[in-house]
Amino acid sequence: MTNDQRGRESDRTVRTDSRPRIAVLISGRGSNLQSIIDAIAAGTLDATIAVVISNRAGAQGLTRARDAGIEALFINPKDSPDRDAYDRAIVDALNARRVTLVCLAGFMRLVGAPLLDAFPQRILNIHPSLLPSFRGLDAQRQALDHGVRVTGATVHLVTSQLDDGPIVLQATVPVLEGDTVDTLSARILVEEHRLYPEAIRLVLAGGWALDGRRFLTRGH
Ligand code: GRF
Repeated sequence: MTNDQRGRESDRTVRTDSRPRIAVLISGRGSNLQSIIDAIAAGTLDATIAVVISNRAGAQGLTRARDAGIEALFINPKDSPDRDAYDRAIVDALNARRVTLVCLAGFMRLVGAPLLDAFPQRILNIHPSLLPSFRGLDAQRQALDHGVRVTGATVHLVTSQLDDGPIVLQATVPVLEGDTVDTLSARILVEEHRLYPEAIRLVLAGGWALDGRRFLTRGH
């Protein structure tokens, strides 16, 4: 095959791939990103990850993306004069890749107006607690310290408020005697990895509506 033919072949591949184009925004380990990559590879999630973006250069998730043949971008916050400019840099990268759904997966930044306005009701986040309990950092430690018997994971639509926004799916996880932050986090993570691809599938399928804070799916 000549380079020309190869070019036409890849053009055709791009044109015929009608799957929804999602982006995953990360800051670190990227195990939730991996669960999305794996669900797509297994055929249980019909989407394509158009790009993975990190605000940290050394994020392990960037390596996971590249290993899976996915474009991985480090967008340095230091290259933007302020928070809004950084958000706009992300929006530009997402629009250039025709992304329609943004999935935050351990992205350790508040999302501001430029990003929220560019993707209204099209940004998801996963949080390791049963929201609205234990928002913010160290949700697993907060749950242990509070002494709850049950905690879990939540996927929600992102709003301007931290760990707020309509709840798409939740999963419960028991807190066991003798749990440490590590053992509890690991148990929650198993549920996160199941929940996030499922929530993305649900949102991409459409047929849902918001009634105030409530995320209602067809038939409810
Ligand atoms: C997860 O616990 C997620 O719920 C929280 O940050 C962690 C990210 O882990 N928002 P990973 O980077 O996906 O492994």
